[in-house]
Amino acid sequence: MPRTIAVFGAGYIGLVTAACLAELGHAVVVRDIQPDRVQRLQAGEVPIFEPGLAEMIARNTERLSFTLDAATALAAAEVAYVCVDTPPTVSGDADLSRVWSVVDSLRGAPALLAVVVKSTVPVGTGKRIRTVLNESGLEHVGYASNPEFTAEGRAVADFMTPDRIVIGGSDQDAIRLVADLHHGINAPIEIMDVASAEMTKLAANAALMTRISFINEIAALCELTGADVELVSKAIGLDHRIGSHFLQAGIGWGGSCFPKDSEALKQLASNTGYHPQLLNAAIEVNNLQKRRAIQTLKQALGSLEGTEIALLGMTFKPSTDDMRESPSTVLAARLLAEGARVRCWDPLAPQELPEPWSQTTRHPRALDALDGADAVILATAWPELRELPWHDAHDLMRRPVMFDGRNLLDPAKMRALGFTYMSVGRP
Ligand code: UDX
Repeated sequence: MPRTIAVFGAGYIGLVTAACLAELGHAVVVRDIQPDRVQRLQAGEVPIFEPGLAEMIARNTERLSFTLDAATALAAAEVAYVCVDTPPTVSGDADLSRVWSVVDSLRGAPALLAVVVKSTVPVGTGKRIRTVLNESGLEHVGYASNPEFTAEGRAVADFMTPDRIVIGGSDQDAIRLVADLHHGINAPIEIMDVASAEMTKLAANAALMTRISFINEIAALCELTGADVELVSKAIGLDHRIGSHFLQAGIGWGGSCFPKDSEALKQLASNTGYHPQLLNAAIEVNNLQKRRAIQTLKQALGSLEGTEIALLGMTFKPSTDDMRESPSTVLAARLLAEGARVRCWDPLAPQELPEPWSQTTRHPRALDALDGADAVILATAWPELRELPWHDAHDLMRRPVMFDGRNLLDPAKMRALGFTYMSVGRP
């Protein structure tokens, strides 16, 4: 049955959750604390790029509204979905201040039946929220954890056709309510206690990150032994016990989730006195990938001092405008520190970016960035990069040196064009 839902947070997760719940027939009021963001949404503008999201919001305007005011969002809400961000603090712990501020605002919500947390939180947070709800006179309001497993760039599809829906709770009514909100989605529903649901989210991300670092380590060994990681990755992925996803070698993972969640899990482990060896190693291998990329380039060019480097791809992966924890940012900073000038290109990255990007030059066309460059780094797997006229690019560059950080191009073809071509884990 259609419900009235307040979604707290109009970021990637909140907006996708709100739009998809509206698409499923529910009435959704989204509350965000940023006036500019709310105004734009009220005016029909979608402030983030996510394939299919703007269209979905547009076709559900009757069931979707946006407000700055928590009381307005909660006036008729039966469910409060917490989708605010939980950025890392200096210690690596997740900053839960936004979650707590939503929980504080729930007092006096007349129709509220359940609070559902989608934000990624440390294990044990749900238990603390339950206690605070009880202390606030909200004992009658149910609590559930409903972590998200949506990847940016395909978040709408991941929400509507997920591999599974995880619901953590101890209150059967709240669990049923959350399950019913997803009516129309065909996926297994995994019901568990709150702590296990919170851990499932962190463990799923840790498993994916570890796989990427694993294949990156194999790539390093391939480079030393003359093997080709692309062939190895494909062949091991055909083993159904291993599977083919997240075995793409490259300059490593970034984004709004993996770096933050790996630090949060590390911190969680350390708070319990446990030393997470595999997780630490996965993080270390990920950092090493960027250092190795710069090292490889330095060896090819002699020195980076005074060179012009074209950095193609700035976002942490294609199909998103998200720059959070992008491997490119680390590369840009290292290149600048080594005395190189950095000219960058990206089809979706925002124009206004903080350090180190303000010290780089931005070019609307990849070929412009390549004109006169001493080397090029492919840092994001944008499909456009496969289609670039590399023959022309070769002629434009001062020195045709390429580090393909995403193994996008064919080594033999690039060498035939005259490039000094290096990639990750390929001979
Ligand atoms: C991830 C999880 O996939 C998602 O389930 C979770 O909810 C949030 O975190 P996201 O951060 O959007 O999603 O991106 P994802 O597509 O998983 O890629 C993460 C990073 O890993 C990117 O930087 C990507 O380039 C890198 N990656 C991914 C690889 O280097 N190799 C791979 O094989 C896959």
